[in-house]
Amino acid sequence: MNVLVIGANGQIGQHLVQLLKTDKKHNVKAMVRKQEQAQKLEEDGVETAIVDLEGDVGSIAEAAKGCDAIIFTAGSGGSTGDDKTLLIDLDGAGKAIEAAQQAGVDRFIMVSAIQAHHRENWNEQLKPYYVAKHYADRLLEASGLTYTIVRPGGLQNEEGTGKVNAAENLELGFIPREDVARTVIAALDEEQTYNKSFDLTTGETNIADALKEV
Ligand SMILES: NC(=O)c1ccc[n+]([C@@H]2O[C@H](COP(=O)([O-])OP(=O)(O)OC[C@H]3O[C@@H](n4cnc5c(N)ncnc54)[C@H](OP(=O)(O)O)[C@@H]3O)[C@@H](O)[C@H]2O)c1
Repeated sequence: MNVLVIGANGQIGQHLVQLLKTDKKHNVKAMVRKQEQAQKLEEDGVETAIVDLEGDVGSIAEAAKGCDAIIFTAGSGGSTGDDKTLLIDLDGAGKAIEAAQQAGVDRFIMVSAIQAHHRENWNEQLKPYYVAKHYADRLLEASGLTYTIVRPGGLQNEEGTGKVNAAENLELGFIPREDVARTVIAALDEEQTYNKSFDLTTGETNIADALKEV
């Protein structure tokens, strides 16, 4: 598959790009928002598109043209306010979904957050963030695209173990970013994950086997 990674300069995004670059089944196109980020990737042999998620849908659709799948792993991060959470985690995701529809890209994988589908489990301090993730996920579920929503627990920078728990509902937990990236890539053409949403934490089961059970 030709895969557009939105949020490719992010911490999960960088794992995705490196893993997809050496994956014989897929080609990667990295969507970033700064010239210097694109230049570094191009020097590394990665195709890029420079698009800001605060811009228009058409520019994202242009970047997505010719792709078979989009992975959305952008986010406004913890150092900006709720306004950016709305603009990136919610509206940016919504625009990416519209762009997929415009560009005829049917496969869409969203990196969301654990328990975003259950309001009663939202962390009090992170409610605006969870609102954004919740409604972005609902937009995707209603989009008609072939979606997978991956809801990881707290992200860690430890090396991945290749073993996860993946299920509709999991206790709050943690997971290395590398394992999130590996799970997302494995889900790309795993039909068992089509039109499914699941929590993801570090666990006991090989990623490929875990995805067959979701
Ligand atoms: N932190 C956690 O424990 C946790 C848990 C579950 C889920 N998540 C979610 O997992 C996802 C990935 O996490 P991460 O740690 O990889 O995030 P990250 O390192 O903060 O990466 C987010 C990426 O989004 C990009 N971005 C922000 N605003 C943008 C804009 N206007 N246009 C285009 N790109 C933009 C950033 O670009 P720049 O590089 O240019 O800044 C960055 O590359 C996020 O959606 C996060 O909410 C996080």
